[in-house]
Amino acid sequence: MAAVATQTVAASPRLKIRPIIEHATALKQAPLGTKFEPKKHLDYAAPPQVIMMKDIGFAEDVGVSPVAVSQPFQLFSREAVQQMRAEIFQPEVMANCSYSSNLAACQLRGYAPKYAPFAYDAWNSPETLKIISSIAGIDLIPEMDFEIGHINLMVKTDDETKAELAAIRKQKRFFADDEGIAGCPWEDDKPIVGWHTDSYPFVCVLMLSDCTNMVGGETALRTATGEILKVRGPQEGSAVILQGRYITHQALRALGAKERITSVTSFRPRSAAIKDESVLTTVRPVSVLSDLYYQFSEYRLEIMEERIRKERKDMMTRRRTGKKFDTMGHKRFLKESYAFLKHTDQEVVEDSKVVAGMLPEHDYPDAEVGAENSDKRPAKRARVE
Ligand SMILES: [Fe+2]
Repeated sequence: MAAVATQTVAASPRLKIRPIIEHATALKQAPLGTKFEPKKHLDYAAPPQVIMMKDIGFAEDVGVSPVAVSQPFQLFSREAVQQMRAEIFQPEVMANCSYSSNLAACQLRGYAPKYAPFAYDAWNSPETLKIISSIAGIDLIPEMDFEIGHINLMVKTDDETKAELAAIRKQKRFFADDEGIAGCPWEDDKPIVGWHTDSYPFVCVLMLSDCTNMVGGETALRTATGEILKVRGPQEGSAVILQGRYITHQALRALGAKERITSVTSFRPRSAAIKDESVLTTVRPVSVLSDLYYQFSEYRLEIMEERIRKERKDMMTRRRTGKKFDTMGHKRFLKESYAFLKHTDQEVVEDSKVVAGMLPEHDYPDAEVGAENSDKRPAKRARVE
């Protein structure tokens, strides 16, 4: 497999985001302060197709829903996209919420609701959640506030964009199927998106850029039999929903566009009765740990609280109605509870053991694929999305 890159990360995030800030200041941004109104800002059209887990060879109970991935569908109006862009291009967001890592050069995280009340309301709106849930085949809510509107940013110079377009016109084989997206291209060491699974059950990727000249940018999925299935990338204001925790995938390189900005919001099942296999693997080193751990632990406790309350209620009802104590059932509940708490404990890694900006590459499926098929596909470094 490819050697693990040893680079100093997150040491100078300001340096890395300077081209983006210059790009942002050159753009005319919409004024801030718009309040999210579902009637005005949702512009939903159902996806032309939703691919099911069984369509790509997986059992329906592998994940939390029988749905694997949607084709791109229109979700937000242009005005909504403009307001989301205005929120992320605030100097405070660039200064306080940008992260870089060994796997992704430029991300904005954890900026809602403080700097982005519009995006926060948009993703928490019952109308939006109804749409997302209907496509995902399960009632979903945002994973936690910190994961609302995670931004992946890529900005290129005019010269780079022109060179790419020229190459595309000449139909050069500019990108291969298993290549990832280059990160910020002004860096010497370009981070690459590799095969990976996400930390959270579902993800909704929303495009915030004009993709008119863009080539590529698809999401590639690995089916149960190892085949590759490509899903078209979303256009401006449109989105793709993917059960990313359970499907190995990668974003393919996008070329020909000066900027590519995607907003990625993660979701989990609303019901406490459904399994929650969320991990923090791909996010711990690119987060304010105190916020991430608080939000993760708080919702995990809420799930536990609801499960305990239900178990106690059921136990009391059995007693009241003259039934015997359900020994085996209660033992099963206790066992599941240990496992659930142990899982939370394992994800809340001691602060001193988390290295900012350094994501554990061995946790990605890439490593094994690279080792097994090193002649066919070199291991790529993965990136969070
Ligand atoms: Fe992903």
